[in-house]
Amino acid sequence: MSTPLDIEKIRADFPILQRKVNGHTLAYLDNAASTQKPKQVIEAVDQLYRVHYANVHRGVYTISEEATAGYEASRQAAAEFLHAPKAENIVFVRNATEGINLLAHAWARKFLHSGDIVLLTEMEHHANLIPWQLLAKDKGVQLRFIPITDEGRLDLSQLDALMTPEVKLLSVTHMSNVLGTINPVKEIVAKAKTHGIVSIIDGAQAAPHMQVNVQSIDCDFYVATGHKMLGPTGSGFVYGKMERWEEADPFLGGGHMINEVTYTEATWNAVPFKFEAGTPEIAGVTGLQHALRYLQDLGLENIYAHEMELTGYALEQLQKISDLQIYGPLNTEGRGGVLSFNMKGMHSHDLASVCDTYGVCLRTGHHCAQPLVRKLGAVATARISLYVYNTKEEVDRLVQALHEAKKILT
Ligand code: ALA
Repeated sequence: MSTPLDIEKIRADFPILQRKVNGHTLAYLDNAASTQKPKQVIEAVDQLYRVHYANVHRGVYTISEEATAGYEASRQAAAEFLHAPKAENIVFVRNATEGINLLAHAWARKFLHSGDIVLLTEMEHHANLIPWQLLAKDKGVQLRFIPITDEGRLDLSQLDALMTPEVKLLSVTHMSNVLGTINPVKEIVAKAKTHGIVSIIDGAQAAPHMQVNVQSIDCDFYVATGHKMLGPTGSGFVYGKMERWEEADPFLGGGHMINEVTYTEATWNAVPFKFEAGTPEIAGVTGLQHALRYLQDLGLENIYAHEMELTGYALEQLQKISDLQIYGPLNTEGRGGVLSFNMKGMHSHDLASVCDTYGVCLRTGHHCAQPLVRKLGAVATARISLYVYNTKEEVDRLVQALHEAKKILT
């Protein structure tokens, strides 16, 4: 399927894509780690610092009000992007990791007790594992995992059996940052609801690439991060249903999250400010709206279609390379543009070094998902992750580099 997107025009918006690395035009295939920024975002952040910058929510002078309006416009944009009912459903954090830690501290620490179970999956990023391990140690809570199949999809055949009465919370990735698998979160959340289980969806990898409608998924919380979707660093955001935010305790205490303070006590500011203590990442958050608008103007369904065309092509080309093992689904059904692989007899770091000589950036290692990578029978993998500005020529260059690596390293 071809898309109506003009990829060359899109690429022209990204200054870094014009640069050369080791004599080649940069082929940036590490978008699951972080994405590049279009000039619309760079210029908006530059404009904030040059013209409007002041602290937000504190001053009654003109530039502080301008800075506050810019910051709050991103809250509205994030709500619209996730199809949340209102801006107040959105709490800003630095990144998805901080978002999940916020939920572990603010909601789970209050409502989970010894003997309760948190249901995760075997494909979680450390960001959606370690906060629960910490909670488990502190509160005597246990962790349970939805298994994965050999193909790298969730095995949902035992889902009802896994959702025993002790399970109080479900926290599941929408898309695996190692396998590319997209999980049927709407179906999983619907089942969780029938068991009275509160749900968190880690959307760090999914939200940049596909339409997300939190009201349709009907999850209690959805976590996303701007830096993986063309936005600045420090622009994470968490959607929550109002009743969940209302019943949660504050996470960080300090300025702006309060209403009345005495020397011994305090009352809390309204949601979402109750969860945004201290000076926030003003520039990052303000820039976020421009990234979200950029993606929406292109159309999330067009972006996904482009990535699937490239992913199908990459799968086809990579499977032609002998001794290359690919992890995760081998077709474009129910997956995103993340592909992990290993070349027999070669460490992935060496593979990446050869790719770098071709200007190709890919990530190697355990991808902050050590238990999953170990389960795949590896200690590390190489990974490409595609986005709207990537091209078939870049995939071809990757393939050329992999052939070269095979020639010189095996
Ligand atoms: N979570 C990011 C990745 O998978 C950093 O690369």
